[in-house]
Amino acid sequence: MQQRQLGNHLKTSAIGYGAMVLEGYYGGIEREASIQTMQFAIANGVNLIDTADAYGNGHNETLVGQAIQGRRDQVVLATKFGIVFEADVDGSEVPTNWGYSLKINGQPAYVRRAIDGSLKRLNTDYIDLWYAHFPDPNVPIEETVGAMAEAVMQGKVRHLGLSNVTGEQLRRAHRVHPIAAVQNEYSLFQRNAEADVLAATKELGVGFVPWSPLGAGFLSSFAGNESQALAADDFRNNNPRFQGANLRENQDRFAPLRQLADELGITPAQLALAWLLHQDDQIVPIPGTRKTTRILENAGAAAVHLTVDHLQWIEQRFPPGLALGKTLMA
Ligand SMILES: NC(=O)c1ccc[n+]([C@@H]2O[C@H](COP(=O)([O-])OP(=O)(O)OC[C@H]3O[C@@H](n4cnc5c(N)ncnc54)[C@H](OP(=O)(O)O)[C@@H]3O)[C@@H](O)[C@H]2O)c1
Repeated sequence: MQQRQLGNHLKTSAIGYGAMVLEGYYGGIEREASIQTMQFAIANGVNLIDTADAYGNGHNETLVGQAIQGRRDQVVLATKFGIVFEADVDGSEVPTNWGYSLKINGQPAYVRRAIDGSLKRLNTDYIDLWYAHFPDPNVPIEETVGAMAEAVMQGKVRHLGLSNVTGEQLRRAHRVHPIAAVQNEYSLFQRNAEADVLAATKELGVGFVPWSPLGAGFLSSFAGNESQALAADDFRNNNPRFQGANLRENQDRFAPLRQLADELGITPAQLALAWLLHQDDQIVPIPGTRKTTRILENAGAAAVHLTVDHLQWIEQRFPPGLALGKTLMA
């Protein structure tokens, strides 16, 4: 598996693994199979494992903790805090475009509580990359990051990250403590990062980890495939890009992705991931999958070379803003 420098501070596999998919948001999977899937990823060199305390209300971290037992030194372990998932904790209500609000807490006291909860569930004594999941609109980001930096001083965390931030928030935080990586949504399906935060990460030498790098499965399975539909309990039913007329139009608009992938003899997922890897050499996508075959398929994207002609072809057909339907926050 190829390695990448994720910003100035971390080296990881060029493609990581997003464990959120093991919580049933996009279809179910048993506990044993979840653990085996992650262990398969690690055995095949996919070593950046991404989770968050809020995924499955702590369950996802527990699963990851079980999967990495005896393998801790082979893993670059990334987790997040800040989405409140415990009933006894307050936070700032942050509305989304997907029909629900998030409760976010970036208060220093909560930061100090969160790190110990994550370490316990992950059954480890250190986290390689610890992100604030969302900025708290009622707490200056300097205060949140200042408290996160205490965990670095205490040896509980090696590097700090930020998720779902603007370029300005990154710059402010970076003055308090070096930020190793930013994790924002980014794919051909959602290119907002290009308008702001991606330039800031490049300038500061901060790694960039695109979340939903396959457009939550849209680019890999739905683009150009009208027979693909969501189950009634699939979480993506909340996402306007997967709803009704938007979904059908998006399937058409992104159909050429499948065409180019066929011409190149690769899969649409590999093309979507390879495109991300070609945007900057400090980008490490974290696709999620419940299937071991797809772990190898996705890892294979690191070996795909896209020419300038391919990149221009893609640019002409999939410009920013092409997808119909509002994104989570913007
Ligand atoms: N920071 C944040 O706010 C935030 C938000 C969302 C996600 N994330 C992180 O980003 C990670 C990835 O995001 P995501 O899971 O939302 O979206 P994603 O990785 O873009 O897509 C996951 C979906 O794609 C399917 N898939 C994966 N590989 C495939 C392949 N080769 N061919 C066909 N289908 C494939 C999976 O289905 P199967 O399981 O059936 O393969 C799953 O339904 C998450 O696990 C999480 O760690 C972070």
